[in-house]
Amino acid sequence: MRDAGIKATGRTAASGKGGAPPVRVVVIVDRAVSSTESRHAEPRLENRPTVKGILFNLLEDVVVDAYDIDLWDRVIDRAGVHGSYSSVGRYDERELKALVGGLGELCSAARGASDGEMLKWFGVQAMVPLAERYPAFFEPHDHTVDFILTLNDVIHAEVLKLHPDAEVPTFQFSGVRRTGGVSSVTLHYTSGRMMCALAEGFTIGAAGRFGERATVRHRSCMLDGDTECRMDCTFERSAPNVDS
Ligand code: HEM
Repeated sequence: MRDAGIKATGRTAASGKGGAPPVRVVVIVDRAVSSTESRHAEPRLENRPTVKGILFNLLEDVVVDAYDIDLWDRVIDRAGVHGSYSSVGRYDERELKALVGGLGELCSAARGASDGEMLKWFGVQAMVPLAERYPAFFEPHDHTVDFILTLNDVIHAEVLKLHPDAEVPTFQFSGVRRTGGVSSVTLHYTSGRMMCALAEGFTIGAAGRFGERATVRHRSCMLDGDTECRMDCTFERSAPNVDS
């Protein structure tokens, strides 16, 4: 993962046609606040749900890896946001959703995809850089279900140690089963940010890291007015992922 943790990447500096190639502006902040950040990041967001810059850095990583920096620049322009995110900053969650939604509109491979599908795509892709950056969360486990069950007590707990202002979702788990090569768990998710599609994508992406096929069935959803999102997840060795 290129950026998360200690540095903020800025926009690509524009270059004229036929001029020098675009230069990527990188601001190293090492958990301090850069001047770029102080101009942009300090939110007037008291009453708005916010998201840590880490997620914006991750999104940039996956877009640049899957496509290129030009697409990322166009996504920023389309969303009408400043596009400079420090991992330690907090930003309006609408910005993340606008970026992800804009990606669906600009990227021909994703045309017609809903915002939720794009958020899920982001979650799936993001597990690759997350696994590179945080191998210790993955290494103790052979199965996705065991990794998922550490979300509250290990993974997000460690995130909170590193970033005390993070607002990680708390999951409840039920119906944990391990039968032969198949395991399952029901995730109960509640969050003011209602990013269940991201949770779904993270889960599917994590299964890929363990060589398992994830089937995620969304049984109830806060976006439909339910009090929680309930996702029945089943993990099986190999074969493609299934989700609904
Ligand atoms: C290496 C593993 C993981 C790391 C390092 C990680 C870290 C983080 C961080 C830093 C945030 C942002 C918090 C904030 O904005 O204040 C976040 C949010 C979130 N995480 Fe994790 N996470 C991991 C795995 C997972 C997995 C497997 C799931 C899904 C089951 C998940 C579900 C979410 C969701 C849905 C959010 C969005 C915020 C919300 O819903 O309120 N995470 N995570």
